[in-house]
Amino acid sequence: MKVAPPQFDYLCTLLRKRTGVCIDETKQYLVVARLMPIVNQRKIPSLETLIDRMRQGTDPSLEKDVLCAMMTHETSFFRDKAPFEALRGIIADLVVRRAAERQLTLWSAACSTGQEPFSIAMVLNEHFRELLATWRIRIIATDFSEPILARAREGIYGELETNRGLSPALLKKYFRPLQGKWSIAQECRQLVEFRCMNLNDTWPMMPLVDVVFLRNVMLYFDPPTRAALVGRVRRVLRPDGSLFLGGAETMIGIDDGWSRVVHGGCSHYTPKPRR
Ligand SMILES: C[S@@+](CC[C@H](N)C(=O)[O-])C[C@H]1O[C@@H](n2cnc3c(N)ncnc32)[C@H](O)[C@@H]1O
Repeated sequence: MKVAPPQFDYLCTLLRKRTGVCIDETKQYLVVARLMPIVNQRKIPSLETLIDRMRQGTDPSLEKDVLCAMMTHETSFFRDKAPFEALRGIIADLVVRRAAERQLTLWSAACSTGQEPFSIAMVLNEHFRELLATWRIRIIATDFSEPILARAREGIYGELETNRGLSPALLKKYFRPLQGKWSIAQECRQLVEFRCMNLNDTWPMMPLVDVVFLRNVMLYFDPPTRAALVGRVRRVLRPDGSLFLGGAETMIGIDDGWSRVVHGGCSHYTPKPRR
C-alpha cells in the first residue's frame, strides 16, 4: 500500500515545515504504518482522505495527531550509557564553578517518554544527593508530542522498558511497583519539569542552561535545520556549558563554533568563545 503522490508530498512538506522532520519516498511504509491507526480510529475512508482533511484545516487536532504519529519516540534509560557517565564528571566540575550561585539547570530537549530526563535525575540522586538538598537543581524536559509527554509525566514504565538500560539495583532504588509496572520514585520525579515545546518553532522563555541533551532528534532534520537549531541552543547554553548529541549525530558540517570534548566512551560539545 502506498499514499498517492499529491497527498504524500503535502504530508512531507507539512512535516518538515512544522517540525523539521524530513521524510522521503523511502518512508512510504512508515507513513502507512503510523497513520493507518488514525484512519481506523476516526473511521476515515482512506489515508488520502485523512491527508485531504488535514489540508482543508477544518479539524486542528487532526494535524497535531498526524504530526505526532509521524515522529519516532525510540528511547531507553541511560541510552548509550557513556553520556551519563560523562555527565557525572561534568556536574562534578560544575559544582565547583557554580558554588557561588548554587544553581544548575539541565535540559533534555527531545525527551520522548521521559527515560532520558529520569536517567539524569538518577545520576543526580546517585552521586550528588547532598547537592539536591541545598542547591536549586532543575531538569527541564521538552518534546513536541503532547501524548508522549503525558506518558512521560506519568513516569510509569512496563517491564520491557525497565529492562532496557536499568540495572536491578537502580530499578529497586528509584522505582516503586505499581499494578505490574514500575513508577519512578518521587526523588527523581520532583526534579523534572515537563513542557511541550517545538524545537522548530518559537521557543517559550528558557532559562540559561548548564547542560543540554539534544540526542537522537537532529538526525531527523536536514542540515540547515540542524544548523539553525544548534545556533539557538547556543544562545540558551551558558558559555562553559555542555551539549550532548546522539551517538549517530555530529557537529561536523553543521556548525564549527563548538569544541568537541572526548570523555570516556563519548564526546560532547562546548561553545567556542566568540571572537
Ligand atoms: C528518538 S526520540 C529521542 C529521545 C531521547 N532524546 C533519546 O535520545 O533517547 C526523538 C524525540 O524527538 C521529538 N521531536 C521530533 N521533532 C521535534 C521537534 N521539532 N520539537 C521537539 N521535539 C521533537 C519526538 O517527539 C521524539 O520524542
